[in-house]
Amino acid sequence: MNYEFTETQLMIRDTARQFALEELAPTADERDEKEEFPTGAVKKMGELGFMGMMVSERYGGAGLDTISYVLAMEEISKVDASACVIMSVNNSLVCWGLETFGTEEQKERYLKDLATGKTLGAFALSEPEAGSDATNQRTTARREGEYYILNGTKNFITNGSQADVVLVMASTDRSKGAKGVSAFIVEKNIPGFSVAKKEKKLGIRSSDTVSLAFQDCRIPASNLLGKEGEGIKFALKTLDGGRIGIATQALGIAEGSLEASVKYAKERKAFNHPIAEFQGIQFKIADMATKIEAARGLILNAAALKDRNQPYATAAAMAKLFASKVAVESALEAIQIHGGYGYVREYKVERFLRDAKITEIYEGTSEIQRVVIGRSLLQ
Ligand code: CAA
Repeated sequence: MNYEFTETQLMIRDTARQFALEELAPTADERDEKEEFPTGAVKKMGELGFMGMMVSERYGGAGLDTISYVLAMEEISKVDASACVIMSVNNSLVCWGLETFGTEEQKERYLKDLATGKTLGAFALSEPEAGSDATNQRTTARREGEYYILNGTKNFITNGSQADVVLVMASTDRSKGAKGVSAFIVEKNIPGFSVAKKEKKLGIRSSDTVSLAFQDCRIPASNLLGKEGEGIKFALKTLDGGRIGIATQALGIAEGSLEASVKYAKERKAFNHPIAEFQGIQFKIADMATKIEAARGLILNAAALKDRNQPYATAAAMAKLFASKVAVESALEAIQIHGGYGYVREYKVERFLRDAKITEIYEGTSEIQRVVIGRSLLQ
């Protein structure tokens, strides 16, 4: 795999690094503590082109490749994994889904504002009884003339209460099971749409995670995304790309954990020596760095396949499976290296652990990634 990044890719990475350090780092801990959404930072991310990185320029996007997206997200996540998931959902799930499956009219109407950060998007697949078992959709959309009538509940929806536009999966024909699910573009302000519950979370606490309720919402038939009955394929295909985003979020957290550990190991003295001089610490740092490089390789491989229009679902699942494990392990080791200081809030590494855990759960648990990988080898 070729690791020689282009000048543009490096420039994007540097811009993201500067933005993360100047705009996100100073407030990340406070926002985590207060569970406060980074409204101002998200607006700036839009101005920098970070909210629609892979959207073509004709729809207001930055027209960049997946590698650039990965490089930028890694920098953001190193500092603030909450900001990273807000960005990931808008880019990978909402903008990509709309650009790939939307009609010209839908792209004109919704994609331009989403890609420039004027509006924010969410992706509503999960339900109380449809998490890993994503095809078990209970939300229904009944056709009535030129409208679909939407009823049901979605849960764990990232960006849910902040979003202007939500891509919602719903069953248009329960008798057809997975083949009876369709995708819809739903605007926040329509009557019957409400935020049912804001979740209090272990980590990524400054991101927005809510349940959404739909009660007799009238959705114009023109807001059907793709064809009727193809909503599950739309969702799973879109999630293949989303998993590269979450793998990158995990990579950033692992990197942040490593950087904090290296800095602390050089500063902290015990037994009259910086603890960096002890092999017990050196081995931990060596293992973290090695696993991080391996995770990066898997992620760049998946991104490169996507950029070359080659199949990437299995590579994305491998990247997410591995990187999320590395994130959790690295954050745990960072706490161990920091000792008691790692367990309290002062040094941030406890936030890295809290933020890391979700990367093993959302956009497909680690068990689901193994199912995807296993099936691809055994079919
Ligand atoms: N791309 C396109 N189509 C796909 C696909 C893919 N990657 N994977 C499966 N499909 C198709 C299948 O071919 C099948 O269609 P046909 O019958 O026409 O062949 C249909 O979709 C259903 O697939 P399966 O029969 O394989 O369905 P399954 O019930 O056995 O399970 C699964 C598939 C892999 C377990 C899937 O349900 C899955 O990935 N579950 C996890 C869901 C998930 O990731 N949720 C995340 C929620 S969003 C989120 O987390 C966002 C956030 O907040 C950050």
